[in-house]
Amino acid sequence: MCGIIARVGNGGALEELMAGLENLEYRGYDSAGIAIQSGGTIEVCKREGETSELRAALEGRSLPGNSGLGHTRWSTHGRPSDANAHPHTDCQNRVAVAHNGIIQNHGSLRAELRERGHRFESETDTEVVPHLIAEELDLGMSPEAAFRAAVDRLEGSYALAVTIDSTETVFATRHGSPLVLGVGYDATYVASDAPAFLDFTDTVVYLEEDDYVAIAPDGYRITDASGTPLERPVESINWDAGDAQKGAYSHFMRKEIDEQPVALRQALEGRIEDGTATLEQFPPGSLSDIEHVVFVACGTSYHAAMYGSVLLRRAGVTATVARSNEFAYDPTPLDDRTLVIAVTQSGETADTLAALRVAAGSPSRTLAVTNVVGSTAAREADHSLFIQAGPEIGVAATKTFSSQVATLALLAGRFVADRDSGGDSTDRIGRVLDGLDRLPAAVETVVGSAGPEALAREFSDASSYFFLGRGVGYPVALEGALKFKEITYDHAEGFAAGELKHGPLALVTEDTVIVAVFTGRHDEKTLHNVREAQSRGASVIGVGPESAVAARDTVEEYLSVPALEPELVGVLANVHLQLLAYHAAAIRGRSIDKPRNLAKSVTVE
Ligand code: F6R
Repeated sequence: MCGIIARVGNGGALEELMAGLENLEYRGYDSAGIAIQSGGTIEVCKREGETSELRAALEGRSLPGNSGLGHTRWSTHGRPSDANAHPHTDCQNRVAVAHNGIIQNHGSLRAELRERGHRFESETDTEVVPHLIAEELDLGMSPEAAFRAAVDRLEGSYALAVTIDSTETVFATRHGSPLVLGVGYDATYVASDAPAFLDFTDTVVYLEEDDYVAIAPDGYRITDASGTPLERPVESINWDAGDAQKGAYSHFMRKEIDEQPVALRQALEGRIEDGTATLEQFPPGSLSDIEHVVFVACGTSYHAAMYGSVLLRRAGVTATVARSNEFAYDPTPLDDRTLVIAVTQSGETADTLAALRVAAGSPSRTLAVTNVVGSTAAREADHSLFIQAGPEIGVAATKTFSSQVATLALLAGRFVADRDSGGDSTDRIGRVLDGLDRLPAAVETVVGSAGPEALAREFSDASSYFFLGRGVGYPVALEGALKFKEITYDHAEGFAAGELKHGPLALVTEDTVIVAVFTGRHDEKTLHNVREAQSRGASVIGVGPESAVAARDTVEEYLSVPALEPELVGVLANVHLQLLAYHAAAIRGRSIDKPRNLAKSVTVE
């Protein structure tokens, strides 16, 4: 969480830093600030609230200067306020720092700095950093040496960008938090994520853990912790700036829901040949030694992993799913015939990286299924498989869920081919691979449906929304409930349909709306569960195939999806649930792209 950007080059830095912060706002939006270095002084402006508040505060202020940095915050230490907003400075305003991560030893550092006369203005962990740097400068160190000496004192996780009044050069480093360098014609950038500078350049260098970078008006220099120069590959990123902008849409979430057919085509392109999944990272035979798969993931990615685990079990593979944030405390036994798959859109979720690192210390192989090339997960795992969904900016994950599931379906296809499973599992997965071909067009018909908006209005007064499903419908029910609660702030829960009668039914009243997911497989069982809720007065919205006549006849309202293999119908049903949540949140006037208390990329454990 938190987004940082720094920029050094020709022409004023202010506008590019502001544009960068606006593109990074999905990482946090409690407060924002910038620091511009010019002619030996540093000007700082920061405000509680979204970047629009910062823009308003900057109105009419002239901040010349070609070098500077900015920050958009998701609070970890200290409530959102002007004072707690970054950048933070030292007592004499000689050093300004933007930080993403958590400095674990900030308490002891703060105490010792206070004893030496330093005054603190904020409650943040970050503020110790400019004071530490200032002390080193006072000892006569060069700006770069002072920066390194201060970083040596830090424990925890950080991506840091620092500007110092005596130089236009900006210094940055990363340890446990992401940082990517953008190499433009007229300027060089460093940021938490590439969309920050995609408007200006698509040439990037992915910095490695503990790399240091100095960006100066004439270019950049990367070194390791001891100062030895490093060569890192310069790459072109294939997301264009337009992908990361809203265009005519009022919300990124709605745009990203609509982008799902394209995202799915990108995920599948060139990956199915003659009915067999071909994955460049997994040549034929490369999975033949794997007996178990253990997924680790959080949130929406956890639901995609659950969905993927159903597909793998249907492919005859023993697959289990663990929440990343529990994995270290309740470890699954791992051996050399196990593949640990981290499913993570951003590739930077701290909980999932921690789980991946536990797996890396075992005999198992690891795989990152992610959307971000160059992310920490992609670089740390033994293998990576990219979902190719394009940038997702809305905090609520939508298109990446569909693309994760499609990619995991391909992996299931690769498993049956490699294990030469034969029989039922080969036939089943063969049908799923055929179905994948029709999936993008089927999603296209669902995104255009007016049904979810009408139902969001009709049922806007309910006290609770319960989502039910079985088989692949179960993770979809969980995902439907997560999406609904995170952007409407209404009470929503997802259940395995058969679980309702084991407790949650006690909560069902005539003010409860049940959303039941049907897939065309075992629907009659789900209908029993639906009737149990109806007889307690609940209204039921069914979501499923057009052909599910019994379901349609039983429920009060029905959102239908085109006919497809039951294993893939869940993806279609989920699109209706995304739209239901979206419209319900719009009716309630919620902050859809930036729901309260949340951030897109959760880089703290
Ligand atoms: C919910 C949502 C989150 C993320 C979770 C994991 O809409 O987006 O639940 O899915 O924080 O993020 P990644 O996939 O980046 O690891």
